Amino acid sequence: MSHATSEMPYFIKPSKGLSPEEKKLAYEQVASDIHALTASETDVIMKMVSINCILKTHLPYYYWVGFYCVRDGALIVGPYQGTLGCLHIDFGKGVCGQVAESKKTMIVDDVHALIQGDQHIACDPNSQSEIVLPVFDSADKLIAVFDVDSSISHSFDHIDQHYLELILKESFAQATLTQTQLL
Ligand code: SME
Repeated sequence: MSHATSEMPYFIKPSKGLSPEEKKLAYEQVASDIHALTASETDVIMKMVSINCILKTHLPYYYWVGFYCVRDGALIVGPYQGTLGCLHIDFGKGVCGQVAESKKTMIVDDVHALIQGDQHIACDPNSQSEIVLPVFDSADKLIAVFDVDSSISHSFDHIDQHYLELILKESFAQATLTQTQLL
């Protein structure tokens, strides 16, 4: 059954799938680029924006990629690349809210199979599949969830989970983190 989609802005391309071998090669490249660029940095926003950019550069099925940060017991949108992201998500709501509550990675092969507005929040109708992972700091405190959408169904699997868990652990759980106070 086809689902409603919307025209993609000029700067967004539809997702393009990769074979398992191509995925592993791309993730190996991504992991070493992120390490080279950010291993000696501490600023959490700097790490988040750099991780989004490097992943979206090397993985053509990444339609939307970004962080939802924990703020006062709920989630607010943080650094991301893609079409407009929802601003606020409650714990337990959508895939992001469920991961914030369970602190466990979720892979969704077909977002349209979920109850919209409850189990899934559609910020963009072009999103077809999704992976969301918890992000912990060195004190094992949940600081955010990391969300990736594809405009193709069944885009994410154990390879994505394996490498993304490694990258998030090295970047946030095994690092001293600081946050530049803007105000
Ligand atoms: N689909 C997510 C919301 C965020 S958008 O994908 C950017 C969810 O269900 O939680």
